[in-house]
Amino acid sequence: MTGKIMGAIMQKKQFKKCLLSTCLIIAIISNLVSSTQCATEKNFGSWSISEKLFNYILSILPKNSTILEFGSGWGSGQLSKHYTVYSIEHDKHWINRYNTHYIYAPIKNQWYDIEVLKKELPKSYDLILIDGPPGNIGRYPFYVNLSLFKTNVPLIVDDTNRPEEYKLITDVAKKLNRPFKIIRESKINTFGVIMP
Ligand SMILES: C[S@@+](CC[C@H](N)C(=O)[O-])C[C@H]1O[C@@H](n2cnc3c(N)ncnc32)[C@H](O)[C@@H]1O
Repeated sequence: MTGKIMGAIMQKKQFKKCLLSTCLIIAIISNLVSSTQCATEKNFGSWSISEKLFNYILSILPKNSTILEFGSGWGSGQLSKHYTVYSIEHDKHWINRYNTHYIYAPIKNQWYDIEVLKKELPKSYDLILIDGPPGNIGRYPFYVNLSLFKTNVPLIVDDTNRPEEYKLITDVAKKLNRPFKIIRESKINTFGVIMP
């Protein structure tokens, strides 16, 4: 009788062990798959600007103009085929991947290191695209540091479907005393534009 109970307990323990290692293997594989997806993502949308936003920029900005972009990725490479692009980027992993002028500004005090920006910002640009840093770091400090930038150009804020980005565009528009419009890219996603 005791033997039977011990046997059952052992079987249960082995089953639990087996279940745990299966879960661990599944977690490792899905992690690998998602990081590979990130690293090889070569499409509009998701981490990069949408095709609608890309085409919108083409429609308002003459070729060979200069873009100052916050947050770099595959979309920056697409923009660089038509424009001179300066990319402010906090993450070394995303530096020097595409044909843009990178400004490596690590995160300091919850935004890009403003001392680096002060030194390395180009003198002139024709459009600002705010698509970084990622939402978990936050983009609102652009508003706080507005005086560092040339603002008599179109300003585009991506992801205005998110409350922080929506607040950013409304506050910047208010401060510049200019109207803004929100453009829908998909059922969920929007970007916002403040024209000069
Ligand atoms: C929204 S992405 C910027 C995308 C860029 N403007 C574009 O259109 O490709 C914001 C930040 O995420 C990081 N990033 C860029 N591409 C990524 C990707 N495919 N997967 C994960 N992170 C990415 C970079 O650090 C970048 O500054």
